[in-house]
Amino acid sequence: MSSFEWNKIIAAVLTAMIVAMAAGILSSEIVRPKRLDHAVYLPPGAEGGAPAAGHAGPAQAASIEPIEPAMAKADPAKGQALSKPCLQCHTFEKGGANKIGPNLFGNADASIASVPNYQFSQALLTKKGEKWDPDKLNIWLFKPQEFAKGTKMSFPGLPKVQDRADVVLYLQSLK
Ligand code: HEC
Repeated sequence: MSSFEWNKIIAAVLTAMIVAMAAGILSSEIVRPKRLDHAVYLPPGAEGGAPAAGHAGPAQAASIEPIEPAMAKADPAKGQALSKPCLQCHTFEKGGANKIGPNLFGNADASIASVPNYQFSQALLTKKGEKWDPDKLNIWLFKPQEFAKGTKMSFPGLPKVQDRADVVLYLQSLK
């Protein structure tokens, strides 16, 4: 091979290297990866950013929007529509069967974990003495694990306070 051939080969290799480097620098400029401070998506049941505990203390309640103002303009028909995903695990009609979760007829102001013939988790049974009300359902429907850490209701929750109010009014209408 003549030295001219070698020069061409070396030039070609050098060019390829320069192009690769330039492409690397350019692409890292164009696509700047943003580092997140904390995980944005948490699978159901995973520890969230908010402190989960066995009861709703004032500190936690403060991080969840209060339901009262939203209750005033709640719409039970919207609540029924929003309750579609609940049907996977719950029945809503009187005398309906317990499925993965208990029947929810008349549940909105009943004692917690008191539906007959349903095996509640220990997490919810520790609250058996208390009654459901809009404030408790607000936390429960925002994030079940926040209300009763260790509950077996694997539902990610309704992030919008108006959605929760609509569902609570719908639950209250079942009696
Ligand atoms: C993936 C299944 C699943 C879905 C979806 C689900 N739940 Fe549940 N739910 C459960 C289970 C399981 C329990 C019992 C929890 C326990 O014992 O820890 C429960 C318990 C409850 C309770 C407490 C009942 C009681 O007697 O104290 C309420 C209220 C409730 N769910 C409402 C809802 C609503 C409203 C929705 C929809 C917005 C919903 N759930 C969606 C599984 C589910």
